[in-house]
Amino acid sequence: METLIEVQNFTFYYGESPVPALADLNLTVRRGEFVGITGPTGAGKTTLALALNGVIPHFQGGRWSGRVVVAGMDTAETPCSRLARIIGSVFQDPEAQLVATDVEEEVAFGLENQALPREEMLPRIEEALTMVGIRDLRHRSLKELSGGQKQRVAIAAALAMRPAVLVLDEPTSELDPQGTQDVMEVLRLLNREHHLTIVLLEQKLAAMAPYISRLVCLHEGRVVADAPPREILRREKLLRELGLEDPPVAAFFRQLQRAGLYSRDLPLTVEEGREELGRLFAKEGIL
Ligand SMILES: Nc1ncnc2c1ncn2[C@@H]1O[C@H](COP(=O)(O)OP(=O)(O)OP(=O)(O)O)[C@@H](O)[C@H]1O
Ligand SMILES: [Mg+2]
Repeated sequence: METLIEVQNFTFYYGESPVPALADLNLTVRRGEFVGITGPTGAGKTTLALALNGVIPHFQGGRWSGRVVVAGMDTAETPCSRLARIIGSVFQDPEAQLVATDVEEEVAFGLENQALPREEMLPRIEEALTMVGIRDLRHRSLKELSGGQKQRVAIAAALAMRPAVLVLDEPTSELDPQGTQDVMEVLRLLNREHHLTIVLLEQKLAAMAPYISRLVCLHEGRVVADAPPREILRREKLLRELGLEDPPVAAFFRQLQRAGLYSRDLPLTVEEGREELGRLFAKEGIL
């Protein structure tokens, strides 16, 4: 599959800091992937998001070495406005990233900056709102929306630019469980139905584990693991070192493993858990 993001030995120090925020980081993302990137506070998730959209090195002062290549373009040599057509960014706080007063205006904002003619703009707005399931909110004031709805507006605003990759930095950290699930379902749909490549930076493993195809673990600015989430869940010592919590279903099955009752891979979703329980009961002759 085509490589969309290639981070090569990238090291970044903020300002005069003696400690690198990203240290000799290597990462490849291919078209169509849904990659989760996790790690404890300070691991470098936000720094990596900023390196992908070009804010680092264009606007954030610091020392750096290595390369970040996005759709064949070296980010250090490409203006952020150009990179914005490839990488759509969504951040943690819906309040801080929304600039307009109503939904349509917000989604139009990036397109206006690109000086897109109005007749091209309107269908793009419609398309983006439909993709995230909030077409009916088009003329609503942003003030009246829930956190989850606001985050979907932020995603629609990024999608209106028709990026190849959506990079989201803890997009659900300010949301309640329902808002979190709504956003995750939208991401699943965008990846599966619209073949959008997604890079989700997220500390809460439980929220994203059922959705992602690959999990990259960061620690002190380095990649310490890169594998399907199921495989990483086998590495309990690593998870505990990184302070990552098991998704609830996986935690339950880990208890069964400890009791010697279960030996297969930990399930990630309630449905998988139900299946595994059925298998277990059948084996034990309970059903
Ligand atoms: N503007 C800044 N100036 C100086 N140091 C910074 C700055 N932003 C982040 N850092 C440092 O860089 C390192 C990586 O921070 P980063 O924000 O990328 O981590 P993170 O994984 O996003 O953490 P969190 O989960 O808390 O959001 C940390 O040591 C942090 O203190
Ligand atoms: Mg962060």
